[in-house]
Amino acid sequence: MDSMKKNSPFPDDFLWGASTAAHQVEGNTHNQWSEWELANAGRLAATFTKRLHWLPNLADITPAGTDPANYVSGRGVEHYERYREDFGILQELGMNAFRFSIEWSRVESEEGKWDEQAIVHYREYISELKKRNIEPVLTLWHWTMPLWFTNKGGFAKQANVAHFVRYARKMGELFGGELRYVITLNEPNVYTQLSYFQGEWPPQGRNPLVAIRVYRNLVQAHKAAYSALKLVCPNVQVGIAMQAGNVLPKHPNDLLARSAGSIAEYLNNWWFLDRIRRHQDFIGINYYFTHNLKGLKLRNPENPISDLGWYMTPSLIDRLLKRVAQRYHLPVIITENGLADAHDVQRQWWLEETIGALKRALDAGVDLRGYLHWSLLDNFEWAYGWWPKFGLVDVDRTTMKRTVRPSARWLADYIKKL
Ligand code: BGC
Repeated sequence: MDSMKKNSPFPDDFLWGASTAAHQVEGNTHNQWSEWELANAGRLAATFTKRLHWLPNLADITPAGTDPANYVSGRGVEHYERYREDFGILQELGMNAFRFSIEWSRVESEEGKWDEQAIVHYREYISELKKRNIEPVLTLWHWTMPLWFTNKGGFAKQANVAHFVRYARKMGELFGGELRYVITLNEPNVYTQLSYFQGEWPPQGRNPLVAIRVYRNLVQAHKAAYSALKLVCPNVQVGIAMQAGNVLPKHPNDLLARSAGSIAEYLNNWWFLDRIRRHQDFIGINYYFTHNLKGLKLRNPENPISDLGWYMTPSLIDRLLKRVAQRYHLPVIITENGLADAHDVQRQWWLEETIGALKRALDAGVDLRGYLHWSLLDNFEWAYGWWPKFGLVDVDRTTMKRTVRPSARWLADYIKKL
């Protein structure tokens, strides 16, 4: 109890921070996504209105959405060069943790050859965080891969898992001594669904059998990477970051919706986590969604929605956290949580609702260790491109000027007063 502050259920060493991923911020990455962007930017721009005419703020986003340049990650937000400035902002906001990923295609751009320059970069990057007393939370795989790996079939081939494990081991050897937390995989569920089932992301697969194979291979990849990391850096806590949510009946006595919701939650939230049960030290949760069902149909209320048209229920994160805790009895870190809100009109509300729910989860006994907001900076939102603004910090991509949004100031004040 000594570690608890008066009137606050948040432990003193609670991690307050933000998350990013290399490909979305660094700039000048060369991997299967950057190639796909160049090949698909024209198509995505030309079909923007047809695909997304139903979004709020359509007039606002149409100029970007119909411009092919929107769909190319390109210079990113130059985080690769400007990371010191960005870490300065974390400090200014009173944050003590930062989730980021190493870009595999930089450190192993050729199969089996480690790139000294990239390694030096990430070494300095991590030490810069530590100098500032910011806990580095490293992700090894946030969906992008070196071309030699995807040319061999990526995670669709079981034999390729060994390549990922070698990369994970190497990163563990190089950086494990500096880290307390490593995330092997980011959202294997979302990746498999969009890349191999719905065909929206590279390599645009639409075959359920291949999707199942990829998903199983990712289970194996995590387990083997977990064991490899435990050998080379036994003190590091290893887990994954899972996209998990609630799927609830809109009307409590809608039995069909209730059963469908449980099945959807099982497939999305638990299937993967159950299989790696004995191979994780904490559970990373990325929470964005609570869905409402009427019978078998998705029937979310019309409001409130984010700029991406996602229905928002930040306050129900506690339901999810309690269920994760009950099911796995492990520490939990919120590894992502946030919204696209270019005008920063809903973010503070989202944060307030979320923090209220985190307190309820802590009061209920959930061993919650941290909250990492998605994202620190406006960034490249995958197939949507640059127009969705998830940043606590606005980035002008012409000047690369960073401007802290008012909601981020609010969060900083909140953390300070704890
Ligand atoms: C991903 C991020 C993404 C965010 C917002 C998560 O699914 O891990 O890379 O930007 O959601 O869509």
